[in-house]
Amino acid sequence: MKDIDLKTASAESVIHCGEGTFLKYAPLLRERQLFVVTDANVFAYYRYDIWKVFGDDVPIHVIPAGESGKNIRNLIAILRAMLGAGMKRNCTVVALGGGVVGDIAGLAASLYMRGVHLVQIPTTLLSQVDSSVGGKTAVDFEGVKNAVGTFYQPEEVIADPMFFGTLPQREIRCGLGEIVKYGALNADILNLLTENSENLFDNAFLGKVVYPCILHKAKVVTEDERDLTGQRKTLNLGHTTGHAFELFFRRKSHGEFVLIGMYYELYVARKRGICADEYATKLENLILKVMGAIPAYDGVEEAAHYARFDKKNDDENVSLILPVSEGKCEEVKLAFEEYTKMLRGARDSLKEGK
Ligand SMILES: NC(=O)c1ccc[n+]([C@@H]2O[C@H](COP(=O)([O-])OP(=O)(O)OC[C@H]3O[C@@H](n4cnc5c(N)ncnc54)[C@H](O)[C@@H]3O)[C@@H](O)[C@H]2O)c1
Repeated sequence: MKDIDLKTASAESVIHCGEGTFLKYAPLLRERQLFVVTDANVFAYYRYDIWKVFGDDVPIHVIPAGESGKNIRNLIAILRAMLGAGMKRNCTVVALGGGVVGDIAGLAASLYMRGVHLVQIPTTLLSQVDSSVGGKTAVDFEGVKNAVGTFYQPEEVIADPMFFGTLPQREIRCGLGEIVKYGALNADILNLLTENSENLFDNAFLGKVVYPCILHKAKVVTEDERDLTGQRKTLNLGHTTGHAFELFFRRKSHGEFVLIGMYYELYVARKRGICADEYATKLENLILKVMGAIPAYDGVEEAAHYARFDKKNDDENVSLILPVSEGKCEEVKLAFEEYTKMLRGARDSLKEGK
């Protein structure tokens, strides 16, 4: 078990990482007035654990599982249930679930009575290494992902790998997408990944890799809480193309698209001479260990249009965060036509099996 302290201008959080943290730290919350938010899948698997640590009379609000549950209607339902349960200004919202639960419950905590205490207990690999840390909350609105949200730091995060035992393989792969991204940003994480490349899906390894990933994110968030100075932007490595493909091709998880995006963008990094061949190959091999194969998509030209709306772009150009060397990345801006040409080149080289 290890703790990470995260200090930002707005708050101080402590993140408890490792096996046993749930049973050690969650019961300590019992003295407070608690309101637990979870989703239907997590509730089905873990209701007895929730009752065991918080008591069987703790108010629990269960939202439907999946991204479609992250909406204004469910946000209002949470706020209504909190009022109905008599939650006071000093109550604590416990977000126990994946990133969907963390985002919507975090938003509810930031709004209820102008803000109440928030504890995140992330139960997916992605939510442990990414969404539970950093204080971004949101719901989707009018078809726009994360259109309504706040910055609101949790006081505490409890990241225990005990929850990985019930995660479907697809969700593990989704979390690995972000973990490989951290590998491209941080040499220690990259070493850990390459040393364990044959057992990336093993729970013992996953339990080990969560801590350095959170540490990396916490450091970035400390320096750039509100995504203003460019530091936090680096966490979007692979995401420009990954997100564009996710919106256009669909049918895979966010993390899988991050890996596919990284793979296509590595082609750009090579062509531009930003990244040495040997290092690019090392990252590509890791991506392939997780994904098996990378799709050679027909339609990259249409998908490229979605990258035009990426939040990192500040002009007509498409902004990419590209790997340079171990622990180093660089922002590169490409004219839209050039970007499309690069994606076509990456796709063709995949088709030719290069
Ligand atoms: N706030 C941020 O900084 C941030 C960062 C990245 C992603 N996100 C958001 O996070 C969300 C994605 O998070 P996610 O990948 O955790 O998805 P999710 O919350 O939808 O969880 C994925 C699936 O796993 C199930 N699940 C959760 N824990 C489980 C467990 N222990 N065992 C079995 N099943 C379990 C869920 O019910 C769901 O079906 C997106 O909405 C994304 O926008 C937010």
